[in-house]
Amino acid sequence: MPTPVAVLNHYNLQPFNTFGIRAYARQIAFISSVSELDYLRELGLFELEGPLVLGGGSNMLLMNDLDRLVIVNRLKGRTIITQDTETITVRWAAGDSWHQVVMEAIAHGWGGIENLALIPGCIGAAPIQNIGAYGVELKDVFVQAEAYDLRTGEVCTYNLVDCQFGYRESIFKQALKGKVLITSVTLRLSKPGFHQLKLGYGAIQETLETNGVIVSGQVPSINDVAKAVISIRQSKLPDPAVVGNAGSFFKNPEIPQSQFDVLSQAYPTMPHYPAPHGLVKVPAGWLIEQAGMKGYKAGSCGVHDKQALVLVNYGPATGAELIALAELVISNVESKFGIKLTPEVNWIS
Ligand code: FAD
Ligand code: EPU
Repeated sequence: MPTPVAVLNHYNLQPFNTFGIRAYARQIAFISSVSELDYLRELGLFELEGPLVLGGGSNMLLMNDLDRLVIVNRLKGRTIITQDTETITVRWAAGDSWHQVVMEAIAHGWGGIENLALIPGCIGAAPIQNIGAYGVELKDVFVQAEAYDLRTGEVCTYNLVDCQFGYRESIFKQALKGKVLITSVTLRLSKPGFHQLKLGYGAIQETLETNGVIVSGQVPSINDVAKAVISIRQSKLPDPAVVGNAGSFFKNPEIPQSQFDVLSQAYPTMPHYPAPHGLVKVPAGWLIEQAGMKGYKAGSCGVHDKQALVLVNYGPATGAELIALAELVISNVESKFGIKLTPEVNWIS
């Protein structure tokens, strides 16, 4: 028997998106069990317009009011699936906060996600764009996700290969977009003594030295690494509780080597990193800054003055104003460098 859940009408989503955009959902339901999803599905609410699944709202730009149902994912709970001497496999329900998952793992001494500390949002959204930071991506520890098919009500399992993870990419942004609701995510983490720290991202090493962790001859702990990541992030990324934003607004573009060779003649200091398939990754933040837009303001929104890859809502900007700003950034970068930036943030209408 499906479990009934309240469906509320004309609901303000401003507190539910980190950009702080005021937009209304035609209907909204807060779900804490799969059985409640069955209830909504049997009412026929998933039939016309597919519903929008909302986690922490930290990777979306609400373009306007939503003439459809919004399902807020509040599934909670952790289960240990299996463990051996070296690893532990743990499943978290999709509504658990990602940062709390990282902190829980650290408290137990489970390594693997410490570099991903302080990323906002829910664990259920982590596979959508294969979250990544400071040299680690979700795919490095991912085992599987369970997902509810919004059309059939079937719960299917997607393993690492099924998910087709790439840089800020997965099958959930492509073939399965809008079709499933991820209900749980299972990770394989390392037990104390069996974890290989990833300190290759320059700023981590420097921060550990500044914090006195490395100088004193100590081997950093996973907690030291998480603390370093948190302090780097706090020094450049705006806190959504203070100023509306959704993190990096654009992806870092990956360009052919031949295009990079031409550009690097003109801009020898252009930072760059190797990318898969022989491509070269160029930081969008650098391109936007060089295009003269770091700190640019347009009405109530702008380009962050410490990290040009982040668009900010000083309030009260609308989705349309942020789209106009994003389009201006894309156009200015393309005119200067011939590189067309693509959004990382999901544009929702
Ligand atoms: P939401 O914004 O609620 O949803 C994002 C998309 O996923 C939407 O299309 C939504 O419909 C879909 N979705 C959400 N949950 C589910 C589900 N259970 N099933 C199916 N679809 C679902 N990202 C990084 O990768 N690395 C970073 O370093 C990083 N730093 C950030 C820093 C700041 C300050 C901010 C604001 C954002 C940052 N992000 C970063 C982006 C964001 O936090 C992540 O993408 C996060 O995983 C989004 O989670 P969420 O729950 O808020 O997703
Ligand atoms: N840069 C500038 N000017 C700026 C911003 C950056 O010149 O205004 C340069 C930096 O000097 C550096 C390079 O760009 O040489 C890269 O900057 P940074 O290390 O800050 O990382 P990023 O490429 O801007 C990416 C992710 C972040 C992630 C960090 C750390 C993307 C789109 N963004 O940012 O993810 O936290 O690396 O790994 O890949 C997110 O996805 O929302 C996000 C915040």
